[in-house]
Amino acid sequence: MKFFIDTAEISEIRELAATGLVDGVTTNPTLIAKSGRDFIEVIGEICSIVKGPVSAEVTALDAEGMIKEGEKLAKIADNVAIKVPLTLDGLKACRHFSDKGILVNVTLCFSAAQAILAAKAGAAFISPFVGRLDDIGQDGLQLIEDIVTIYENYPQFTTEVLVASIRNPMHIVDSAKMGAHVATIPPSVLKTLVKHPLTDKGIDAFMADWAKTGQKIVA
Ligand code: G3P
Repeated sequence: MKFFIDTAEISEIRELAATGLVDGVTTNPTLIAKSGRDFIEVIGEICSIVKGPVSAEVTALDAEGMIKEGEKLAKIADNVAIKVPLTLDGLKACRHFSDKGILVNVTLCFSAAQAILAAKAGAAFISPFVGRLDDIGQDGLQLIEDIVTIYENYPQFTTEVLVASIRNPMHIVDSAKMGAHVATIPPSVLKTLVKHPLTDKGIDAFMADWAKTGQKIVA
């Protein structure tokens, strides 16, 4: 499973990229606004830190405008993935960019029907928002399972399922069990993935017993 980081905060991206666990980054207009940074500049900086796909979302709602904006974003760096919303205009823009070999991340997906359209439009990634479905009492993980199952029926579909709107570690674990290709993870959730009280307890016990030996591996 690839791990993307869902943030536009440079300090968080640097910190987590240093672990070697980060395969890409996703941003959206809300995350860019939160960063307080110039959009073009911050995407360029992120692309210089993380070599994998970096999603930069268009803000136009018509295909022509999306194409104009996307062409500008694609010029920022080779690893920019153009993010477009799941609308007919977004799918038209997706087809335009995918025919040119430019990565497209089709976002704001909330149904399997939408995911089929994104695959037919040549999307590199589809972003189903599991957390926002859970937030309204629907089963976000069921959507992931449905999309993975449908995509497996059609070898010509090359779109990767990029699980988005992740709220907790189990969204990642359960999506991985289903075979989702990518999880885009808020930095706070990624940091909780590694934590387990028994690991901490075990380290403490090992250190206490090692200290009794009076030895050092490296003087
Ligand atoms: O960036 C796309 C998605 O991950 C946003 O999720 O937390 O705003 O529902 P969220």
